[in-house]
Amino acid sequence: MPRAKISGHLCDYLTQGDPGGLPLVFIHGFPFSQATWTGQLQALPPSVYAVTYDLRGLGQSEATGGEVSMDGYADDLEGLLELLHIKRPIVCGLSMGGYVALHAAARNPGLVRGLALCDTRSGADSVEAKAGRTSAAKQVRESGMESLVEAQLPNLMTPQSFASDADWVQALRTIMLSTAPEGAAGALEAMRDRSDTTPALARFDFPVQLIFGEHDKVTPPTEGQSMAAALPDAQLAIIEGAGHVSNLENPTQFNAALHSYLGQFLPA
Ligand code: MLT
Repeated sequence: MPRAKISGHLCDYLTQGDPGGLPLVFIHGFPFSQATWTGQLQALPPSVYAVTYDLRGLGQSEATGGEVSMDGYADDLEGLLELLHIKRPIVCGLSMGGYVALHAAARNPGLVRGLALCDTRSGADSVEAKAGRTSAAKQVRESGMESLVEAQLPNLMTPQSFASDADWVQALRTIMLSTAPEGAAGALEAMRDRSDTTPALARFDFPVQLIFGEHDKVTPPTEGQSMAAALPDAQLAIIEGAGHVSNLENPTQFNAALHSYLGQFLPA
C-alpha cells in the first residue's frame, strides 16, 4: 500500500486504473477505512482512475494527536490530489466522507468536477448530537473502541444485514475495532464541530449524484431530498434494502447508480 506524508501525517492510499483516465476519489465513513470501497473498485471500468485513502487517524493513516477539523481533512484531500497530480476529480464520499467532500467543495467549488454524496448530510450536528460526540470521544479515549463499535454497528445497516453476519459485516466490525482510539476521538470532535455546508450547495455548478440507502437511520433519504432541493443539478438514487452503508449492503444497485452518474463524464 503506498504511503505518503501529507500535511504533516502519513497517509495510506491506493490508486487503480489509467492515470490519464477520469479521476474519481473515494472517501470512507466513520470509523471505517478505504477497504470499504473494494466492491466499488472491482466494478469500475479501466477508463476511471480511482483513488482510495484512509482519512487521517483512521484505517492505517497516522493519527497526529491534537485537534483535527473538517477543514483539516479537506486540506489532506487537497494534499493527496497535489501529490497524485489530479485536477478536478469526481469525489465520492460516504457519510463522514461526504462531510469532507462537502467541506472541500464548499470552500472551493472549482476543486471538483462532480460529487457523489452517499448517506450523508450537509447540515451540522444538533445540540444533542454534539453532546453525544463529546461523550463518545471521551469514552473512546478512556476505554477504546469496543463499546462504540458494538453500539454503532447495528445502526449502520438493516436488521437483515446485521443478522446475516455476512463476511462484509464481520470485516466492517474488524475495521472499526482496529481504529486507533485517538484517531476516532479526533474524528468525532471534527464531526461535532463541522459547519453547515447547506448554504454552499446553491453554488455547486456541477452535477451531483446523491445515493441513499432506503432504510438509512443515520442519514435518512429525506436528507438526500433536502440536498437535492438546494442543489442546481442533482439526482437522487435510493438503494433498495440498504441502510447507512449502502455501498456494502447492496453493491449492485450502488454501483449501477454510480456508473450511470460517471457515464456523463466518460467519452461515449
Ligand atoms: C459515518 O458513517 O461516517 C458516521 O455515521 C457519520 C456520523 O456519525 O455522522
